Amino acid sequence: MSIISFDGVYYTYPLSEKPALNGMTLEISKGERVALLGGNGAGKTTALKHVNGLLRPNKGSVKIYGEDTRKTNTSNLSRKVGIVFQNPNHQLFAQTCWDEVAFALKNFGYDDLEIEKRVESTLRFFGLWDYKDESPFLLSVGEKKRLTIASVLIYEPQILVLDEPTAGQDIEQKKKIGNLLSSFKGEAVIASTHDMDFAARNFSRVVIMSSGKIVADGPTRDIFYMGDWKSAGILEPQTVSIAKITGISSHPLTSEEFVEAFKEEVAK
Ligand SMILES: Nc1ncnc2c1ncn2[C@@H]1O[C@H](COP(=O)(O)OP(=O)(O)O)[C@@H](O)[C@H]1O
Ligand SMILES: [Mg+2]
Repeated sequence: MSIISFDGVYYTYPLSEKPALNGMTLEISKGERVALLGGNGAGKTTALKHVNGLLRPNKGSVKIYGEDTRKTNTSNLSRKVGIVFQNPNHQLFAQTCWDEVAFALKNFGYDDLEIEKRVESTLRFFGLWDYKDESPFLLSVGEKKRLTIASVLIYEPQILVLDEPTAGQDIEQKKKIGNLLSSFKGEAVIASTHDMDFAARNFSRVVIMSSGKIVADGPTRDIFYMGDWKSAGILEPQTVSIAKITGISSHPLTSEEFVEAFKEEVAK
């Protein structure tokens, strides 16, 4: 069963003439990890905001666990769908890191003991315990991003939505975010990204958007080796470019896969 379902979704921002979503149809099932790709203005952020009901279609429908987002209330939806925005500065608001991650639990009415327990284990897990009494705004870019992810994962949403999770992050931080995604115990992850290597490494399915529509959708390996997607404003992962040039036939997606494939070709 689809847990996220877009059916012919159109959305135009107030005062705008051009639709940001122009007939988007997408089904995501339990267990899937989907990367949403596309050039600037393709409609990725707009699509993600439809998953948690922050925006609702002008035409067509979005259903989460079969419920139409126009009919469910936002707080119901926000409990199931955790969204992490691109810019942590737009999401962080509390006086301390402790309050930041505790916020959702307080909001959802968890008891104090449970809140204390979860906040401590979450801050420790994310390597932020030492900053529990500090202002979130004093953290580094990478720490801020981790804090926003922590503040969402703490209430265990079933669906995790991330908008450009690696924007402005260094390699170490990207690895950490990748690890967080693989340890996510919920039911589906959908993330927009400009980072093709991150997409290739962490997502089994990619969906490519252009002008508010989906132009490709499939297993990551198939999609990246099917074409170069320059027309959709996408630069393929470096490993894929190199594999294409060197004629490696096993279609590696990561540098580790490339090295393995290369050894095998040489041994032939
Ligand atoms: N708040 C807004 N008001 C008006 N137009 C917007 C707004 N946000 C985005 N858009 C427009 O909607 C289209 C899709 O934008 P967006 O979803 O942000 O794309 P992406 O995340 O893929 O870069 C673009 O043409 C953009 O200019
Ligand atoms: Mg965006």
